[in-house]
Amino acid sequence: MKLEELRPLVGVGRQLYVETYGCQMNVSDSEILVSIMQDEGYRYTENIAEADVILVNTCSIRDNAEQRIWGRLNEFRRYKKARKNLVVGVVGCMAERLREELLNDGVVDIVAGPDAYRDMPRLVAMAIGGSHGVNVELSQEETYGDIRPVRLDKNGVNAFISIMRGCNNFCAYCVVPYTRGRERSRDPYTIVREAKELFEAGYRDVTLLGQNVNSYSWKPEDGGEVDFPDLVAMVADVSPLLRVRFATSHPKDLSDKLIDVMASLPNVCRAVHLPAQSGSNRMLTAMNRKYTREWYLGRLAAIRRKMPDCAISTDLIAGFCGETEEDHAQTLLLMREVGYDSAYMFKYSQRPGTQAARHMEDDIPEDVKTARLNEIIELQNELSLASNRRDMGKCFEVLVEGASRRSCKQLCGRTSQNKMVVFDAADGIKAGDYIVVKITDCTLATLFGEIVK
Ligand code: 5AD
Ligand code: SF4
Repeated sequence: MKLEELRPLVGVGRQLYVETYGCQMNVSDSEILVSIMQDEGYRYTENIAEADVILVNTCSIRDNAEQRIWGRLNEFRRYKKARKNLVVGVVGCMAERLREELLNDGVVDIVAGPDAYRDMPRLVAMAIGGSHGVNVELSQEETYGDIRPVRLDKNGVNAFISIMRGCNNFCAYCVVPYTRGRERSRDPYTIVREAKELFEAGYRDVTLLGQNVNSYSWKPEDGGEVDFPDLVAMVADVSPLLRVRFATSHPKDLSDKLIDVMASLPNVCRAVHLPAQSGSNRMLTAMNRKYTREWYLGRLAAIRRKMPDCAISTDLIAGFCGETEEDHAQTLLLMREVGYDSAYMFKYSQRPGTQAARHMEDDIPEDVKTARLNEIIELQNELSLASNRRDMGKCFEVLVEGASRRSCKQLCGRTSQNKMVVFDAADGIKAGDYIVVKITDCTLATLFGEIVK
């Protein structure tokens, strides 16, 4: 018998519940965490009432994300009173940022940063033994490359694959480089293996995830390099029936090589998420984004030259330090000029420890931030609707994801451009199938259509 087979599993039969907040990277991290815990004998449950261990995977990107999680931790007091041996752990970005505050809160037994998930069985064992389990060590190497994530999604069609961790960009507003540490890329062969296993299990749409996928780089000791376009091609090669997406791209690193690889491979989706953050060069400099509005528009023109049907989405921040009405107007102008298909829009939220918090004044009053954000949202609604109206009458290949939310007589699925389409169900059509749908109607969030083939 091997030594590890003699080692008792710390979790035998204990039930683990995981709640995830924040970005897709966190969703992917929770799947890694559950995999590590299952290997130690824990059983995953979706029912918090039967959990022996509750882990909350947290986000620090804006203050309201953290406030929501504090509120949730407060609710756990009730569970802890009812069940004496219940263990509560906070993992992820907030754990990294607020270790002391969390431990002093009285509810939290475990605090584990994003690079400490392999240590979780030991941390839980410590908590069960009556002490705090704490590990917020950040790593230069950890990529969890060898771990096979347990898929927690429901539809069995879409999955995330984490290809790198951390961020070296230090955008002035952003807490990510502090909570997730330095950038490191995962071994491409483990990524391709994961994609193959997903495909064989019926998945048809994978999203390659990183804070800045365009700087992915794997340099084996025997020389050579696998860069991001190479990786995209390797994953796309798994099967022509596997759709490949990626997020997030930093505009400063979006290469012509990537655009060429995308254009040459029909199963790489025609959708690029390219966060602009602001349309004003003055703000882009203050944000340390390292590109100009002109560079950004140049990259976009290059994408559209090779892929005229490519959807473009973005992230925008309203009310960053020192933003004038003129700067804000530049953002609105940029939005119109690009005609974004969709956007994530935020009010600037000062994060302690970032360059902006240390060196700049958070000087835009809350009501002005709100007014500017509302203008941005209103304009984006108009642009999203216009984008969907342009699709009316056209046919799209749609990957079926399952029943639509509104009616079991309807199915939904996505186009390569990442737009959701709802259509009447038909015999024999199921999740994971590709069909062609003609668009007959739309709202600003959804396309409606009928099956053509
Ligand atoms: N305040 C508001 N929005 C932020 N983002 C990142 N940091 C902040 C902040 N401090 C936004 C950016 C980023 C997205 C993930 O979140 O737009 O692209
Ligand atoms: Fe934050 Fe900028 Fe890194 Fe994105 S690229 S995670 S915005 S520091």
